[in-house]
Amino acid sequence: MKILGIETSCDETAAAVVEDGSGIISNIVASQIDIHARYGGIVPEVASRQHLLTIIPVISQAMSKVSWQDINGIAVTFGPGLAGSLLVGVNVAKAIALAKKIPLTGVNHLEAHVYANWLNTSQTDGKGAVKFPCLCLIVSGGHSDLVLMKGHGQFEKLGRTRDDAAGEAFDKAARILGLGYPGGPAIEQAACAGVPSLPLPRAWLKESHDFSFSGLKTALWHLVDKGEVSVADAAASFQSAVADVLVVKTIEGAKQLDVEQILLSGGVAANKVLARHFLNNSPVPVLIPPAHLCTDNAAMVAACGYYHFQAGKISGYDLDVVPSLSLG
Ligand code: KG4
Ligand code: ZN
Repeated sequence: MKILGIETSCDETAAAVVEDGSGIISNIVASQIDIHARYGGIVPEVASRQHLLTIIPVISQAMSKVSWQDINGIAVTFGPGLAGSLLVGVNVAKAIALAKKIPLTGVNHLEAHVYANWLNTSQTDGKGAVKFPCLCLIVSGGHSDLVLMKGHGQFEKLGRTRDDAAGEAFDKAARILGLGYPGGPAIEQAACAGVPSLPLPRAWLKESHDFSFSGLKTALWHLVDKGEVSVADAAASFQSAVADVLVVKTIEGAKQLDVEQILLSGGVAANKVLARHFLNNSPVPVLIPPAHLCTDNAAMVAACGYYHFQAGKISGYDLDVVPSLSLG
């Protein structure tokens, strides 16, 4: 079964064709990073206009290896995300579904991130296969969610951020340190030349699976404001503080719930230090998609859509965007 995935929830215009929920046939991502970098963050109106310009060429490129008759379903992100951006993908998907008479399914962007763990893996030979129940840590620019996954489409939210999302914290910290946008890769690179030696706080929020990163960001600002800290050491210390909290709290949850695996996803999961902390400390296997499948893409949307179609979840032409959609 071949699914066309379409993703326009934020600042990436993406389309992909995926076979049977894991085999990537094409995966095209047109990033708007260079356009938004000059503003130091995403400008929603600019993002939606850019999606309008690029969505058709991106879909055409994703479809260059297959014909429309081969496509069994269209999966599109309908939330959460920026309303104007989501509208572009959802309306293009509905128009194609209607014109080509292809079934349509609306996909939750957070659920799609989790399904990046199914891509390019064999789900039958045991190697890289996902085993339920698993604990999903979704860490992106807008979310830090800890979600128990009991089966396909069965999610139970355990924790979330109470203030800044992990990726948002990286972006704000990078701005404090005068590094570029997006902040995650900029901090990771700067941290390579530093030592995590600065005293930065960790918000443990005991008795809760929630996260909080705004105090850490403020503490970093105070350190920098006092002067005489090296940017590399500050980046390494900040990265290490975020990784500590994510790793310790997720592993704690995994032990409490006795899960088979931990699944990482979202842009922050591309961070190598975070991955190393997880792999060194987790008592259960940790699955982490390759970096280009952690950040926004449409292959994950198509993979998730495959399991929607398997479960008979088909959307009507009245599918609308839900910018504040949550998972579980
Ligand atoms: O999942 P994503 O591409 O988009 C959203 O759904 O938000 O995540 C983007 C976020 C940004 O905040 C970016 O700074 C962060 O992921 N990010 C990283 C890394 N690469 C991207 N954070 C830490 N380390 C990275 N290597
Ligand atoms: Zn995302």
